[in-house]
Amino acid sequence: MTDTDERLLMTPGPTALPPEVREALGRPLVNPDVEPGFTADYRRLLDKLAEVHGTDDDVVVLGGEGILGLEASVASLVASGETVLCLANGLYGEGFADFVETHGGEAVVHSVGEGEVFDPDEIASLADEHDPVAATMVHCETPIGLLNDIEGVLETLQDAGVLTVVDAVSSLGGTPVPTQRIDVCLGASQKCFSSPPGLSTLTVSERAWEKVEATPQDSFYASLEPWRDVDLDTDQAVLLPYTHLTSNLYALEASLDRLLEEGLEAVYERHEDVAERCRERGREAGLDPLPPVDRSSPTVTAFEIDGGAERVCREVRERHGIVLSTGLADHADDVVRVGHMGYGADRERVDVAMDALADVLN
Ligand SMILES: Cc1ncc(COP(=O)(O)O)c(C=O)c1O
Repeated sequence: MTDTDERLLMTPGPTALPPEVREALGRPLVNPDVEPGFTADYRRLLDKLAEVHGTDDDVVVLGGEGILGLEASVASLVASGETVLCLANGLYGEGFADFVETHGGEAVVHSVGEGEVFDPDEIASLADEHDPVAATMVHCETPIGLLNDIEGVLETLQDAGVLTVVDAVSSLGGTPVPTQRIDVCLGASQKCFSSPPGLSTLTVSERAWEKVEATPQDSFYASLEPWRDVDLDTDQAVLLPYTHLTSNLYALEASLDRLLEEGLEAVYERHEDVAERCRERGREAGLDPLPPVDRSSPTVTAFEIDGGAERVCREVRERHGIVLSTGLADHADDVVRVGHMGYGADRERVDVAMDALADVLN
């Protein structure tokens, strides 16, 4: 079983593309500024994304991969000198603070230690003490395979009147995301949607739009503001803030069709089942996942190894044609990550990948 003649891509994003998605990439292009057909296509795509999120909030798709959504949400919501509470128990959680500071905000980083749990009471005190305009957090910390339980934290922040920004880049479309409680919820095309890299997706609550409008924007490309007034209630061509990545949009719609046809509950169960299979195969090979099992993500497993992760991944690739990822930063040498998201959330693919990993480790 391979994605091409030589190899199987099992990284935690980008993921392999299903045939329907590859086919959609080749659809003839329309010109969004000129031809009326694009508007209906784009509206349909946004409706499908809203369905995946289970939200009535607006959905925006930006032409740029996941990081653009992270930066754009902060850049759009935070004025110079305003405080943002950044909740961190992994790399991406910490990284939000950089965007806050780049755009003139003051980041209060609440770092609980890698993989540790956030305490809503502590967050309530921090909100009280610092009076932040927004709080950022990560649903799935991909580098350590951790799924954060964010419901209690979101409720606390909502009660405190703090806007919430959630990076659900590697969980959206693979496990339920509590979008109804989130002001700006971020996704990306290349993770559980199994579309090519290139698109950031965002839901934006009315409260968040109001804050965007009240905030002087210090960027055009990384701002949500120009997207607020795009009127899609027309059969005519619409002028978007910039030319959209039409082929990527077609591919994303094909991905969403796959997901919605299977049914969200079935998709989530498949991810749980395959993640359990991956951990079981890891246990057989003497490997433990980095976070405790009850907090392991259904979309990616980070196995701890004794070192040499780069060499292990290279040998898995060269000897077996399976592409895995190492850990990042402090875990670059002692973590190997198996992505089982979207098209990769498949028992057969995980078995093939874990056979190869076990063989190399032996
Ligand atoms: C949690 C998380 N946020 C954001 C991103 C987006 O980063 P990029 O698309 O540059 O890889 C990723 C990608 O790995 C991610 O795992």
